[in-house]
Amino acid sequence: MRYYIGADLGTSALKLLLVDSEGKIENTVSVSYPVDFPHPAWSEQSPEEWRKALFSGIRQLTAQYDKSLIKGIGVGGQMHGLVILDSNDEVIRPAILWNDGRTYKETEYLNNIIGKEKLSEYTANIAFAGFTAPKLLWLRNNEPENFGKISKIMLPKDYLNYILTGVHCTDYSDASGLLLLDVKNKRWSKQMLDICGIKEEQMPKLYESYEKAGVILPGIAEELGLEKGVTVVAGAGDNAAAAVGTGTVSDGKCNISLGTSGTIFISSDSFSVDPYNALHSFCHADGGYHLMGCMLSAASCNKWFCEDILKTSDYASEQENITDEKLGNNDVFFLPYLMGERSPINDTDARGTFTGLRMDTKRSDMVQAVLEGVAFAIRDSFEVAKNSGIKIEFSGLCGGGAKSPLWQKIICNVLNIKIAIPQAEEGPGYGGAILAMVGDGEYASVKDCCEKLVKIKKVLTPDSEIAARYEEKYRKFSKIYPAMKELFKEIK
Ligand code: XUL
Repeated sequence: MRYYIGADLGTSALKLLLVDSEGKIENTVSVSYPVDFPHPAWSEQSPEEWRKALFSGIRQLTAQYDKSLIKGIGVGGQMHGLVILDSNDEVIRPAILWNDGRTYKETEYLNNIIGKEKLSEYTANIAFAGFTAPKLLWLRNNEPENFGKISKIMLPKDYLNYILTGVHCTDYSDASGLLLLDVKNKRWSKQMLDICGIKEEQMPKLYESYEKAGVILPGIAEELGLEKGVTVVAGAGDNAAAAVGTGTVSDGKCNISLGTSGTIFISSDSFSVDPYNALHSFCHADGGYHLMGCMLSAASCNKWFCEDILKTSDYASEQENITDEKLGNNDVFFLPYLMGERSPINDTDARGTFTGLRMDTKRSDMVQAVLEGVAFAIRDSFEVAKNSGIKIEFSGLCGGGAKSPLWQKIICNVLNIKIAIPQAEEGPGYGGAILAMVGDGEYASVKDCCEKLVKIKKVLTPDSEIAARYEEKYRKFSKIYPAMKELFKEIK
């Protein structure tokens, strides 16, 4: 028996799994860290916090196990975050995260002055405020000294891989979200690097997610009590890693993730671009490609409403009175745009709202509205996919929010499709472990490993009455953002 460590470098915590080569999760550990919001719409984190979490997490994870059996590490990480190192490989400034909205001017410049057509031709995508290229332009415009010091650019999980191996590397799935990659041809886009004033030597080396990027440095192995030569794979963006962890590989499969962000991920063997560019066209961690819609606040809306507003972390009690007959019968609506929104509306000014409050509105109606608002916003991206001809009749569901049986049911009925809940709920971490197994030669391919290891716990089927009620509610929900759009610009 051999062990592999899968890590999910999330926005609120690093989640680590110890998985054996037969796919059994032996142990899990989660180490939290803060997100800093130094200005409205800014979102930053210190890479040093990630490093500390990785070291203490691996120690806790492996304490009771025979460490000589640990053969590989694979990390899936929050995407798009800008991590910059100077010529001594020191971090220059806090990482600017995927849900940071400061780059609206740079995003507009890219989309309107360079032009969406050119961007799409160079990278297969247009600019969204959270993507990395607009962050580089922001840095050049606002912190020229820091920009001038950049020796290496990387993404959050690449920093952890660098700490473990000393190698500056990234993988195609995560690199796709930089808006500097020619996604179709899997190489850096010369045009985009020029637009951002970046040279190719400042970029990390590109790998497939399951390729071995290096081995753990001898000093780090000793510090962590691991054997020398442990494989470290290039890893993946967290959504691609989650897709691997739920078996969403090869052609035409779908996975929905309810984490801090909410994503709908459609795997594909071949490259394609959404004609409206509302869905991202990225590389997948299995060597293929995917289309993805990403909403910026999903499980984080529920966390915000329960913890910050209702002052409780007992989510289950808040949801226990929301019975089947209430589903699709709620007159309260919630727009989940607490950090602005990316897919499909691409509006950094959008904000959250409750609509339809009355004197008889109950606390549970508002809790329900939050869960439904997130499901409706996921449906917005689902509709974009459907309108471009993609058929989705079945999807996996993972992420912290997917632990709620109520939220599972709401997603299933709002989308009116079958939903599969995988046995390993920890999508990206489990995917990271699978990538490590493939990189270490335990399995021949990601597909092969997924077929053997990924198991489904339960499948939900929509209830025709609830789904019909939600159809009606979704039509009403769809009218709220257009009615508010201009006002959001004024009140931002
Ligand atoms: C995807 C995205 C988010 C982050 C969350 O484009 O921005 O899903 O990866 O960690």
